[in-house]
Amino acid sequence: MKIDILTLFPDMFDGVFSESIIKRAIEENKIELNIINFRDYTNDPHNKVDDTPYGGGAGMVLTCQPIFDCIESIRDDDSFIIMLTPDGVPFKQSIAYDLSSKKHLILLCGHYEGFDERIKSICDMELSIGDYVLTGGEVPAMVVVDAVTRLIPGVIKEESHLEDSFNDKHLLDYPTYTKPYDFRGMKVPDVLISGDHKKIDEYRYEESLKKTKERRPDLLD
Ligand code: ADE
Repeated sequence: MKIDILTLFPDMFDGVFSESIIKRAIEENKIELNIINFRDYTNDPHNKVDDTPYGGGAGMVLTCQPIFDCIESIRDDDSFIIMLTPDGVPFKQSIAYDLSSKKHLILLCGHYEGFDERIKSICDMELSIGDYVLTGGEVPAMVVVDAVTRLIPGVIKEESHLEDSFNDKHLLDYPTYTKPYDFRGMKVPDVLISGDHKKIDEYRYEESLKKTKERRPDLLD
């Protein structure tokens, strides 16, 4: 999968994609990641990419020209273009699964007061990572790339994400333990060392259900 991230702050991505699983996915050519500064596409003599809002109001608004020109120069028939915005549809695991089968994602990161409304016409989807307003779309783009990349076949073992919270089962994860059995008096539940896999499955299901009821009853509706 090719992923192009359009941003005014390319340096923000240093580090995040050069560690751990995403780093390996890049090295193994599971994803090709390009960070593109859309300021490079502006026709403005002073390199501007924003302007004041029509009708007045606070802040600056990203203009159409650099973003349209940038997207038009990199997209092809396989491209799926996503605008990161707090007004977008809520990002969920099911969307991450859908996106993981695309050939080319273009992620557009805003900054300042937002985008000129007409930029939405060139996008296939507007995505929000949650009901809070961040300083820009860069951190949300990192979240989307991370969540999508780990679902690309071969990036992590399939069993690892079949067990994830938020898959079809709509339950949060059950608690997990590793050695030692007794850490400062906190012991591993006996059922997990019983060797009885039916009992273990039942215990894990009950714990998942209990946690989901307590923390995210909305998932059970
Ligand atoms: N840009 C600013 N806040 C955002 C959010 N919550 N989700 C996506 N893009 C954003």
